[in-house]
Amino acid sequence: MEVLSRFLGGTLNSIISKCVGLLVTVLILRALFLPSFPGFDEIEWSNLVYIRSHPPLLSSSDFGIRQDKFLLAPQLVWGLNNQKIAFARACLTARMLNRTLLMPSFSASLFYKEIDLLQPISFDKVFQFERFNTLCGGFVQLGRHSDVLNRTQVLEMVKGSGRRWTLERDLSQLKEHSKGSLDDYEVIRIVGKNPFLWHDHWPVTDYAKVFECLDLIDEIATEVDSVVSKIRAIGREVINNTESVELENRMISDRSSFQPLPYFAVHMRIEIDWMIHCRKLEHRLNTNQICSSKKEIMERVRHIAGLKAPIVVYLAVADKLLNNSSILEGWEEGFLPFEKKKLGVDGIYNKYPYLIQSAIDYEVCLRADIFVGNSFSTFSSLVVLERTQKMIRMSVPNLCGADVRWPSYAYNIAGESNGPMRWITNMSESSLQAISYGTTHISC
Ligand SMILES: *[C@@H]1O[C@H](CO)[C@@H](O)[C@H](O)[C@H]1NC(C)=O
Ligand SMILES: *[C@@H]1O[C@H](CO)[C@@H](O)[C@H](O)[C@H]1NC(C)=O
Ligand SMILES: *[C@@H]1O[C@H](CO)[C@@H](O)[C@H](O)[C@H]1NC(C)=O
Ligand SMILES: *[C@@H]1O[C@H](CO)[C@@H](O)[C@H](O)[C@H]1NC(C)=O
Ligand SMILES: *[C@@H]1O[C@H](CO)[C@@H](O)[C@H](O)[C@H]1NC(C)=O
Ligand SMILES: *[C@@H]1O[C@H](CO)[C@@H](O)[C@H](O)[C@H]1NC(C)=O
Repeated sequence: MEVLSRFLGGTLNSIISKCVGLLVTVLILRALFLPSFPGFDEIEWSNLVYIRSHPPLLSSSDFGIRQDKFLLAPQLVWGLNNQKIAFARACLTARMLNRTLLMPSFSASLFYKEIDLLQPISFDKVFQFERFNTLCGGFVQLGRHSDVLNRTQVLEMVKGSGRRWTLERDLSQLKEHSKGSLDDYEVIRIVGKNPFLWHDHWPVTDYAKVFECLDLIDEIATEVDSVVSKIRAIGREVINNTESVELENRMISDRSSFQPLPYFAVHMRIEIDWMIHCRKLEHRLNTNQICSSKKEIMERVRHIAGLKAPIVVYLAVADKLLNNSSILEGWEEGFLPFEKKKLGVDGIYNKYPYLIQSAIDYEVCLRADIFVGNSFSTFSSLVVLERTQKMIRMSVPNLCGADVRWPSYAYNIAGESNGPMRWITNMSESSLQAISYGTTHISC
């Protein structure tokens, strides 16, 4: 109960919290009396809390951000996670200047060079604008372009580049622009490269705070819900059709209710461009812990301790593999692999441009009971960062313990008994660099 009251802390009146408290008590009691299913008993109520409620994010050290001074950042580009990091970095830069960040544009399509094909898409076409400020306001603040009063008062701040543009020079530029006559300008527009490439002056916890305030807009969140319920439905069907008494006992007597079979999400990076990239990286870093073949991934996943088959495996794969059914082959009995097509959700994805597809997949991985990814992938790293943050918010006592909810693993590193290595984000790191560009130091 303590966890929950921390969650709701002061945001609900006491009647509502009593009702919710009662509901949770019922759910907890129910979970306690369910036949044991190590590690997963608490899924149902955890999901209940997990999906749409946030704890209050602000602490007393967040004094607020001026809402009459603005920062304008260039369009965010490349992969979803490059763009999310760029967004957070732009927010934190604005915070350092004590300015409101004008809603930046993401890029809907994935191009690295053809700038004219990038298809700008406004922040609020992907994430909820008001919600962001409700959750993060005071720490960082987002503004609309219409909030700017005097469009002639724009100061350009040119970001340097190259080896001589050091962390220190970058920092002193920011300090210089946060005082005196430069600070008087209503708008500072940063000119130069994409924020993803800006110097990183902030601890991992600051990034985590910003990511927590990003809630998908309802239209996209609904699509995520339908993908997740498709996956859950398959789990239920499996139980329904099973002849195994043991399995039935493991689940619940009432089949119509929402106790789901847990699902796994595996972020498989095995497409050819990745393989070329990671072989080079392995060579450069003198390691063999970056690339894993499909066979190695399946082998590691199979050895996760305490795993009970059957289990639904959602394969989150790069676009290029969407069509390649070979990723579904070769799984051990009891593992039920699905990708978008087999799940019957490719229609959902195909409606959207790259960025939204990737955002849906990201959320599906975030909500998975178990996540397995590659510790050299930014996508995997951010998923694990957010999962770690959620565990901390839920006051999970031993993040690396055997029976935690939402464990994550890195398949590219060998852990116990040939399984993948348990993975949590080290929240004490002083910059995102340490966790987002690939590492074999993954804390557990
Ligand atoms: C921003 O400026 C306001 C008003 O001067 C001040 O109260 C607040 O503490 C500042 N916030 C930060 C994060 O420096
Ligand atoms: C906008 O700023 C410019 C330059 O400081 C000033 O000359 C002008 O009067 C301002 N316009 C308004 C509407 O405040
Ligand atoms: C389980 O099986 C029963 C009988 O075949 C069927 O009526 C019911 O709809 C099934 N439930 C699910 C969730 O598949
Ligand atoms: C999948 O393959 C079919 C036939 O080869 C092709 O028509 C379709 O465009 C492909 N879809 C994707 C997402 O690559
Ligand atoms: C599918 O993937 C496998 C393994 O990654 C590869 O060998 C094969 O060529 C791919 N097939 C197609 C049609 O892309
Ligand atoms: C986490 O990061 C801090 C700061 O870099 C470091 O001192 C600590 O040893 C790390 N912890 C683990 C478990 O790697």
